[in-house]
Amino acid sequence: MLSRSETGRIPPRAKPAGASTAASKAGAKAPAASKAPAARSATKLGALHDAKVVDPLGNERHKTPFASIYAKGGIPCRLQHGSVRHKLVWTTPGAPASLDYDPVFVTFCQGLRETQHPFVFVVHEGLREMMDAPGARDKVVQLLPQIVAPLRGGLSQEDKRLWRRCGRWRRAMSPTILEQVGGEDAVAAVVDIFYNNLLKDERVNSFFVNTNMERQRKMQTKFLLHVLGGREYNGKSMSKAHEHLKLTDEHFDVVLETLAAALRTAGVGEDLIKTIIATADTTREDVLGRSHKAQ
Ligand code: HEM
Repeated sequence: MLSRSETGRIPPRAKPAGASTAASKAGAKAPAASKAPAARSATKLGALHDAKVVDPLGNERHKTPFASIYAKGGIPCRLQHGSVRHKLVWTTPGAPASLDYDPVFVTFCQGLRETQHPFVFVVHEGLREMMDAPGARDKVVQLLPQIVAPLRGGLSQEDKRLWRRCGRWRRAMSPTILEQVGGEDAVAAVVDIFYNNLLKDERVNSFFVNTNMERQRKMQTKFLLHVLGGREYNGKSMSKAHEHLKLTDEHFDVVLETLAAALRTAGVGEDLIKTIIATADTTREDVLGRSHKAQ
């Protein structure tokens, strides 16, 4: 569990389908009005005692673009210290609803790796308020390809605390895209079409001659649900599953092409296909064994 001492607040917990959390409301059909009034979004000062405080003279190298941009005043909100509670004050009129989330939201997601005060508070509170803002759902869906990388690829799993923290946000943000595809059954149907076509493709089908395709379909469905919908994935990491295959970019491109065709056959719209393909493409470095970070 993410401790209060790290963030000053506990991020939304993943809840069963249908459950309502502030963050998942960004994924609900009707955009929810902000549920984060100042009193609720504020945090107790004592809760931040354990967070390392950033050097007030600015003599440090920043871990993420979020911190450098914040230091230069480029983040449209500021931490307001209160005697009992901190709160976030947006410097752009009408924010966060009025903000163009590209690139602000992406920059905040990159900031999830921060461990210092005030970045931790600003990142978590900022993300929460942006996700609660009216119209957030559509804005976040469009950014998923850029968000997925910081949420899943940007961290080493060795740092369990950060990994869990990002996982929670990943689960909070992802239902939007899974809903748009049509849910879990739709993903399983796409995977079926995908493998039916892939196994006919002579550029890549030789890789699957010894593969148990029933299990493969199941694992691929689980993996896609994980990437698109934040579900648990307990299969092999992408680098481990493919390391013995010696795959190239050409093989990878065939898989993406076949996935796009399967999504098209299943009636998924072109814009969403682009987002899903870009999301799947974030696994390229792991699948091709070029990433030193195992996922
Ligand atoms: C978007 C890219 C890809 C994704 C998301 C993906 C996903 C997966 C998953 C989830 C598994 C199962 C892991 C497990 O057993 O726990 C797997 C295994 C496998 N993948 Fe991929 N894969 C991708 C690209 C490729 C490519 C480009 C090829 C070859 C053309 C390929 C060939 C295989 C094979 C042969 C296995 C089974 C390995 C075995 O039998 O041990 N994959 N992949």
